[in-house]
Amino acid sequence: MKFFIDTANLDQIREANELGILDGVTTNPSLMAKEGIKGAEAIAAHYKTICDIVDGDISAEVISTDFKSIVEEGKKLAAIHPNIVVKVPMIKDGVKALKWFTDNGIKTNCTLVFSAGQAILAAKAGATYVSPFIGRIDDSNWDGVELIAQIAHIYQVQGFETEILAASIRSALHIVKCAEAGADVCTCPLEPILGLLKHPLTDIGLAKFLEDAKKL
Ligand code: G3P
Repeated sequence: MKFFIDTANLDQIREANELGILDGVTTNPSLMAKEGIKGAEAIAAHYKTICDIVDGDISAEVISTDFKSIVEEGKKLAAIHPNIVVKVPMIKDGVKALKWFTDNGIKTNCTLVFSAGQAILAAKAGATYVSPFIGRIDDSNWDGVELIAQIAHIYQVQGFETEILAASIRSALHIVKCAEAGADVCTCPLEPILGLLKHPLTDIGLAKFLEDAKKL
């Protein structure tokens, strides 16, 4: 399973990248706004900086909602760097645009996916990635990890090549469960990634080893 970091914060991207296990980055308009990035030029420059830090797929989300504008915006985003993946919302014009990008060799990430039916549409349109929002599904009283397992089963049975990118990850346990359920990628904030490191027995064991090492 690939690890992406879900943030537009450059310090966090660098920290995750330095761990040596980072395969890419996902962003969205909320994450960009959180970093105070404003205006088309600043947005493009920020994506370019992220691409210079991480050698992997970098999702940049369109904010247009009609076919023509999504395609125009996506083309501009894709021109920033060869590693840019155009992130497109799961709406009717979005599906049309996904197909256009597929036919024109531009990688895509279909976002805001909350059902297996939406995931089938994204795969039919040739999306490179499909992003089911695990945490938000849990918030709505259903099990997000179950959706990952369902999509993984459907994609396997049908031979779809779209990669399942588990998004809206809230905990280290989410990452483990998504890996178990068949996600191809997990995109997470830095905290759950670092959470995977934690185990009290590791800390206790290391303290004992270091103490005994003084006797050597
Ligand atoms: O990748 C999608 C993600 O950014 C949404 O996460 O925590 O806002 O549901 P969250």
